[in-house]
Amino acid sequence: MQMKLAIAGFAFSVMLAGFPAMDAGAAEDAVAAGVAEIKPELKRFASMLKKELQQALKTGGPLKAIEVCNGKAPEIAARISEETGWDVGRTSLKWRNPDNAPDAWERKVLEDFEKRRARGEKAQAIDYAEIVEQDGRRVLRYMKAIPTGKVCLACHGSNIDSAVRARLDEFYPDDRARGFRPGDIRGAFTVSRPM
Ligand code: HEC
Repeated sequence: MQMKLAIAGFAFSVMLAGFPAMDAGAAEDAVAAGVAEIKPELKRFASMLKKELQQALKTGGPLKAIEVCNGKAPEIAARISEETGWDVGRTSLKWRNPDNAPDAWERKVLEDFEKRRARGEKAQAIDYAEIVEQDGRRVLRYMKAIPTGKVCLACHGSNIDSAVRARLDEFYPDDRARGFRPGDIRGAFTVSRPM
């Protein structure tokens, strides 16, 4: 349902953005097809990460598990990118790694996600797709909110163990990704593909 609304909004913005060659119906179909293709991949990404995290937390504790979010996440993202041809990443308004800081489009979408959540939408159901023009090409961009779960709090909550805090301070001196509560939007998957 949300996706439908986003697509409707998007089709309108495409018309306004001046892509006369692509009619709204065709654009809507292209977006829906793209999203249907990448959404299961993101689901796979999320569950692989969660599994790796839970396992690392169990066997090595949060100090060890830092390496999962730090090393495994970009590794899985790169693999999915290679397999699908989509550029796959993660971003957040309150990022930990400055490499994950949002660009202007992502920032706008993330701010809109926060508004949607404040209006009562569940974080796990929030997403948005749009065709944008980038360097003279049409690019399909899609973002899907990542909810904060209990397992995330060890490193993104407000009560982080002091040894973990020290390690995070060391790796990420400008860390903003703390103080989250369950159900908050921790960030989003962000993907794009040329049309
Ligand atoms: C063991 C510690 C730890 C746990 C638990 C953890 N994270 Fe992270 N998280 C990190 C680290 C470290 C980074 C920075 C990764 C990097 O350098 O790219 C990070 C980065 C992220 C990012 C990328 C944006 C940013 O802030 O740089 C997202 C999104 C994210 N985590 C979501 C989650 C979610 C959702 C959970 C729970 C399912 C979770 N994390 C659990 C340590 C953790």
